Amino acid sequence: MAVAILLVGGFGTRLMPLTKNTPKPMLTVAGIPVTEHQIAMAKSAGITEIVLATSYLSEVFIPYFGDGSQWGIKIMYAVEKEPLGTGGAIRNAAQILDTDQSVVVLNGDVLSSHNLAEQIRQHESHDADVTLHLTQVQDARAFGCVPTDSQGRVTAFLEKMENPVTNQINAGCYVFNPRVISTIPLDTVVSVERETFPQLVANGAKVFGFIETAYWLDIGTPRALLKASIDIVKRTDEFLAMPGTTIDPTAVITGGSSIGVNSSVGAGAVIDGSIIEAGCVIGSNAHITDSFVSAGAEVVNGAKIASSFVTNGEILPIP
Ligand code: GTP
Repeated sequence: MAVAILLVGGFGTRLMPLTKNTPKPMLTVAGIPVTEHQIAMAKSAGITEIVLATSYLSEVFIPYFGDGSQWGIKIMYAVEKEPLGTGGAIRNAAQILDTDQSVVVLNGDVLSSHNLAEQIRQHESHDADVTLHLTQVQDARAFGCVPTDSQGRVTAFLEKMENPVTNQINAGCYVFNPRVISTIPLDTVVSVERETFPQLVANGAKVFGFIETAYWLDIGTPRALLKASIDIVKRTDEFLAMPGTTIDPTAVITGGSSIGVNSSVGAGAVIDGSIIEAGCVIGSNAHITDSFVSAGAEVVNGAKIASSFVTNGEILPIP
């Protein structure tokens, strides 16, 4: 059975100020942290052990996930004193796993419903060194692209360019043969995307693409974070209210909004296309559109908030 490493130690600068006190993977999407969605996805692919590779705000994860028993999975923690980059983080976390099984690595800021179990199966049947999930986007100019040959082998890792040679991009979910991880230097800052993968391809290693275009979204920017939540909520409902919420019957909540655990929404409030995290108080007749309200924030009666981040004491326009 495969084991997994979740990369959750980045600074999340593009989501400041939301990431000032909350690491990006712990931001709420459809009522729960992004990491919790990923744990559920990994578990449904048969993974039984996960290491969270943490660094920035590492102390936030343990109180929430503990040993993982609440999710029926074993969760362990690797902490980098200084961020080691994606490759260094994988090497560091793999020490805890000490495994000869396939190691799945998930970028902590991606929501994907691709078939991970099949990705692992193909990786093992190819006896590959690494198998990367590749997805296809309409416009690949904002991404580095990853061409493959007719056998599905990766032929190059190309930087962002004006005229991409393919619309296939790295989707941030890898299956590694553990012997490859052990070649990454310990306690050294390494990027898998910019160093390890290109070197492997240059050295003729067996690097395969698993091309699947199921739902996929990188939640690294404010607009994407809101979109992810709205997409998930709308799969089943117009809005989502988590346990412990108090919502006045005259409030109107639409557009895939989610209301976090123990939050309250006052009379006549209108919430559209927004994320309200846990423990928020939304005053009566407040109007909140296309916005993210951070855990514990209070929105005063009658406030009009559009396309903004609301933290305690601050309302900032989303760039
Ligand atoms: P930005 O600063 O907004 O680019 O976000 P980021 O810091 O999260 O960087 P990026 O989106 O490139 O990171 C991709 C994934 O790798 C995220 O889930 C990060 O949490 C994770 N990550 C990036 N760098 C490190 C690191 O040095 N250590 C660990 N453990 N994880 C990392």
